[in-house]
Amino acid sequence: MFGGNGKSCNWKIGDQITFAVESGLFEGVFTSEVVGINPRQGLIQIQFPMVEGRLVLLPVGTTVTIRQEGLPEPQNRFIVIERVGGEKRSLVLKHTDFEINRLVYLTPPKDRQLISVCSGKGGAGKTTLAINLAYALAEWNYKTCIFDAALGTANVDVLLDLAPRYHLGHLIAGKRGLMDILTEVRPRMYVVPGCSGVQLLTELTIYEYNLLASEIQQLFDYFDVIIIDTSSGITASTTNFILASQGGYLITTPEPHAITDTYALLKTLVTQRKRPVNLNLVVNRVYYRSEAKNTADKLQFAARKFLNFELGYAGFIFDDTRVREANMQQKPVLELEPSALASQGLRAIADKFHEKDAGVRNRSPGSILDRIKQISKRA
Ligand SMILES: Nc1ncnc2c1ncn2[C@@H]1O[C@H](COP(=O)(O)OP(=O)(O)OP(=O)(O)O)[C@@H](O)[C@H]1O
Ligand SMILES: [Mg+2]
Repeated sequence: MFGGNGKSCNWKIGDQITFAVESGLFEGVFTSEVVGINPRQGLIQIQFPMVEGRLVLLPVGTTVTIRQEGLPEPQNRFIVIERVGGEKRSLVLKHTDFEINRLVYLTPPKDRQLISVCSGKGGAGKTTLAINLAYALAEWNYKTCIFDAALGTANVDVLLDLAPRYHLGHLIAGKRGLMDILTEVRPRMYVVPGCSGVQLLTELTIYEYNLLASEIQQLFDYFDVIIIDTSSGITASTTNFILASQGGYLITTPEPHAITDTYALLKTLVTQRKRPVNLNLVVNRVYYRSEAKNTADKLQFAARKFLNFELGYAGFIFDDTRVREANMQQKPVLELEPSALASQGLRAIADKFHEKDAGVRNRSPGSILDRIKQISKRA
C-alpha cells in the first residue's frame, strides 16, 4: 500500500483516480489520470483535473484525498507539492506519511562512494573527468557506474561509443526500468545513459528529480562508486544532484571567465546547502603547473574569505590534444594514451581518490552481473 512501507503503490500510470479536495479555494470531487508514480518517495504525478472543459488549478499546499474502495481516507491523503507547467502540465502530489522535503538526499552505504562532477562554465571537462575517473577506478577493481545526468546534453554514451537503445528519458517516462538502460562499457565500468536533444528533460520537476535520486540510490546495490556527470551552470537540475551527493569535483579551466562562473556555482551551492558539502577543485586544460596553482589559490582564497568555505583541491590536468583524439576515437584518453600528459593528471586524481578510500573500503565480491542476479533472486 502506498504510504505504508513506501515500496509499492496501488496505482499505475494511465489509471484514472478520483479525489476529494477541501480547501478554502476549492471544494469537490475530481478525476484525473496518473502520469507518474514514485512509491519510494511517496510521489504521484497526475494530469490537471478538468471541470466543464476548464483546468482546476489546485494551488501548491492543497490537501487532496484519493478515493479508493476498502481504504480508510486518512491513509490516502496527499499534498500538492508542485504545479508543472508547459507541455508536461500536471500536478505532483506527495503522500502525507512522507516528509514534504523538496530535495531527496543520496546516502551511499558506508563502503560505497558517490561523486558528482560539476562546473560553472560549459565545456570545462566534466565528461572527460567522469569517463576517465570511471575507467581508472574500474582498473583499480572498483565496480563503477557513470550516471549521465547532463540532462538534455548528455553525451557519455557517444564518447564511449555505446549507442544504447534506451536512456534516462525512457526511465523518466516510465517506459523502461533502470536495468533496461544500464549499459556495460567494459568489466566493472557501466553507464546509465542520459539523453540529448530532449528539451523537456533539461529542467527536472521535483517528481522527476526524486525519481532519479531513488534510481541512483538503487545503484549502490551493484556498484562501489557512482559518478554523476551533470550539466554546467547553476540551475536546480544541476545543483540538486551536487547538494544531494553532498560533494564532488568542481572542475574549471584557468581562464578568468571560467573562474568567475566556478565561483558563482560554488556560492550557489554553499548558500543553498542544508547539510555539509565536500567539494574538491580540479583545474583542467592547464598550460603550466603554475596556472593550476594560481587558479586553485584564487578560488580557495575567495571561498574561505567570502563564503567561509574550505574548498579542497584534487589536482590538475594539462591541456593535451590527445584528449581530442580520444574523443574522436570514442575512448577514454587513459585507455588510448595512458602516458599522455592529460592521462597523468587524470590518473593522479583517481589515485588520490583511491588513497583516501583505501582505508575504509570493504569491496564486495563477485561480478556486477552476479550481484544483479543475486538481488533479482532475493526480490
Ligand atoms: N585536458 C584537455 N585537453 C584538451 N582538450 C580538452 C581537455 N579537457 C577537455 N577537453 C576538450 O574540451 C571539450 C569539452 O570537454 P568535456 O565534454 O569533457 O566538457 P564538459 O564540461 O563535459 O562540457 P559540457 O558542459 O558541454 O557537458 C571537449 O572537446 C574535450 O575534448
Ligand atoms: Mg559534459
